[in-house]
Amino acid sequence: MEINRVGVLGCGLMGSGIAQAAAAAGCEVVVREVTQDLCDRGFAGIEKSLARFAEKGNITAEQQTEIRGRIRGTTSLEDLKDCDLVIEAIVENLEAKRDTYNQLDAVCKPETIFASNTSSLSITEMMTATRPERQARFVGLHFFNPVPLMKLVEVVRTILTDEEVYESAVEFGRKLGKVPVRAGDKSGFIVNRLLVPYLLDSIRALEEGVGSIVDIDNGMKLGCGHPMGPLTLLDFVGLDTTYYIAEIMFEEFREKRFAPPPLLKRMVKAGLYGRKTGRGFYDYADPKKPVPMSLV
Ligand SMILES: NC(=O)c1ccc[n+]([C@@H]2O[C@H](COP(=O)([O-])OP(=O)(O)OC[C@H]3O[C@@H](n4cnc5c(N)ncnc54)[C@H](O)[C@@H]3O)[C@@H](O)[C@H]2O)c1
Repeated sequence: MEINRVGVLGCGLMGSGIAQAAAAAGCEVVVREVTQDLCDRGFAGIEKSLARFAEKGNITAEQQTEIRGRIRGTTSLEDLKDCDLVIEAIVENLEAKRDTYNQLDAVCKPETIFASNTSSLSITEMMTATRPERQARFVGLHFFNPVPLMKLVEVVRTILTDEEVYESAVEFGRKLGKVPVRAGDKSGFIVNRLLVPYLLDSIRALEEGVGSIVDIDNGMKLGCGHPMGPLTLLDFVGLDTTYYIAEIMFEEFREKRFAPPPLLKRMVKAGLYGRKTGRGFYDYADPKKPVPMSLV
């Protein structure tokens, strides 16, 4: 089954990137946000990202206009009814996702494939919010931030996923220029299963006074050849999102390595979400020169 018309739910960090990547691959894309204001904000991000691609010579000015022209914003779920595939990238909350899928199921044509970009929630638990006939058409499509640049997509199947639907999702990942890896429906899939405990440990190291923010980041960057340190990466991912993911994974596995450290919780309660709110482990008043925060 070829996927040409794509719906995206949420135009935040991930939804905007997924919409852009799908449009760049030639798909017609409709993105749904809860308010027009949030939609406009997401589209401003897409335009900025496309402009950067054009400046660097990765796309022509003509392609920039064409890609932008293939993405439409809406606040109505109804506008997603004819999509071949809908990818959900809303807040990492099971009830919010189940509620959205339940409504979407009533709107979309029977063939529409439903996919979630969840980082840690169970695809199976989302799938059961839809009618039995839809359940074989449910997969996980877990992209990485920033989506237009990151090459990986985890393609997740449940025990009910139809073989042909699954292969169409794998093929869709390839169409977007990604390398698909196959994963089972286990919280965190492959990457977050390994990455989340590492990120949480870096916060524990900071709490315990093992090193400063800059030294922990430099340690992993220069000592292990990582492109960025764990605290910088946390600011990119979003501390709110990481906190939700850690809570979900801890709930699933009951292992300390997935438990959110108290400092992470305090930072989220204080509204320090990382780059998206201007402050996290670093202060981004000047985004080109992040200054480490005083946190412990
Ligand atoms: N941040 C990351 O690095 C990352 C990476 C991979 C996967 N994810 C996953 O992607 C999802 C989104 O994460 P994000 O970082 O983009 O979050 P975000 O907070 O940047 O964006 C979420 C957006 O969804 C919108 N939204 C909420 N309810 C909605 C609804 N019912 N319909 C349409 N839009 C709705 C919100 O207004 C918000 O703009 C989460 O499930 C997260 O776990 C995040």
